Amino acid sequence: MKKRIALLMMAAALAVSATACGSGGDTSDGGDKKGEAKTSEVANKDKPLVWFNRQPSNSSTGELDKTALNFNKDTYYVGFDANQGAELQGTMVKDYIEANIDKIDRNGDGVIGYVLAIGDIGHNDSIARTRGVRKALGTAVEKDGNINSDPIGTNTDGSAKAVKDGELEVNGKKYVVRELASQEMKNSAGSTWDAATAGNSIGTWSSSFGDQIDVVASNNDGMGMSMFNAWSKDNKVPTFGYDANSDAVAAIAEGYGGTISQHADVQAYLTLRVLRNALDGVDIDTGIGTEDEAGNVLSDDVYVYREEERSYYALNVAVTADNYQDFTDSTKIYEPVSNQLDKEKNPTKKVWLNIYNAADNFLSSTYQPLLQNYDKLLNLEVEYIGGDGQTESNITNRLGNPGQYDAFAINMVKTDNAASYTSLLNQ
Ligand code: BGC
Repeated sequence: MKKRIALLMMAAALAVSATACGSGGDTSDGGDKKGEAKTSEVANKDKPLVWFNRQPSNSSTGELDKTALNFNKDTYYVGFDANQGAELQGTMVKDYIEANIDKIDRNGDGVIGYVLAIGDIGHNDSIARTRGVRKALGTAVEKDGNINSDPIGTNTDGSAKAVKDGELEVNGKKYVVRELASQEMKNSAGSTWDAATAGNSIGTWSSSFGDQIDVVASNNDGMGMSMFNAWSKDNKVPTFGYDANSDAVAAIAEGYGGTISQHADVQAYLTLRVLRNALDGVDIDTGIGTEDEAGNVLSDDVYVYREEERSYYALNVAVTADNYQDFTDSTKIYEPVSNQLDKEKNPTKKVWLNIYNAADNFLSSTYQPLLQNYDKLLNLEVEYIGGDGQTESNITNRLGNPGQYDAFAINMVKTDNAASYTSLLNQ
């Protein structure tokens, strides 16, 4: 049996296609010596599954992948409200410009120029943030009934088609707002949301039109901080990100313009909590909208659940110079859901969980540490797998024996690729 599992694992590791080892494999008997963390007899395809951070969806159209979201009756997605957050980010940038109008236009040409770092052109959250900034600053152009979120390359002369020049009137004076440049920050190996690429880009942009850049906007803090450290801090150019990672929040004291908390503390809890509830066979709302026996409960100002999308969305909060002191530790668990569950009533279960890119700033410095704080409280023994951010197979190769686990939490490289994972559970 051992040999057989080893062979199966090897086959999975070598296989180009996830289905290479055929369907005949009997599910593991799950025999576990540790007693408590015994795996179930449940078929892999019926085990609880949560997608998180990257919602199964079509990367060109954004359409949700309902098949993946309804893989079985215990399947959910946990993320955050991308549109509400994007709107907050755009408004935060606009408010900052208005409040600092006397000094924002660095070269005094009447044009407020900004550059934008785009995370992943096929990721709904990234698209929403690009749209949010363009909408608030008046630079948005419609395409197929929605705001165009395409990168523009450089646009110092205002001729780009995917954006237009905006206009802002403050204290009776009119200013032009121009997106001077934007780019998807993808490195040569294929990693998106790539901080190093953003740091290089601001170097290129600033050396050719640096004095025109009055604001730096970024789809996330990883890229935002990279640009801040490489250029904008020294040049006193306000830089705005997203995620409220601890380093970005601390940088607000040094001139970082602001960020958005996507309430990762609530998301990380929900990610594991829905699995816990499904494993316990209790109402899915337990410890979420309905207080559990330990006293854990979330109020409805921090999340929404949309049944038709099988999705939980945390709500976002703007973090600026006014309130950043409350957000200095992004890995701190959320107080209303910080109570330990009873080991007898909620016995230890095993969860397989992957982070699509071990080098992603948000996931590695904020989300995973939060998960690691909650897993103990929820009596879940979680195996954390860190991907390379480039290929799905780098991760699926490490799901060689799903029979060893009671539940799965999945963070895909690409939002189209849910089937790479579910096909392994269907075998
Ligand atoms: C975060 C990004 C992160 C991405 C990964 C987003 O929600 O804001 O920082 O890189 O998720 O998928």
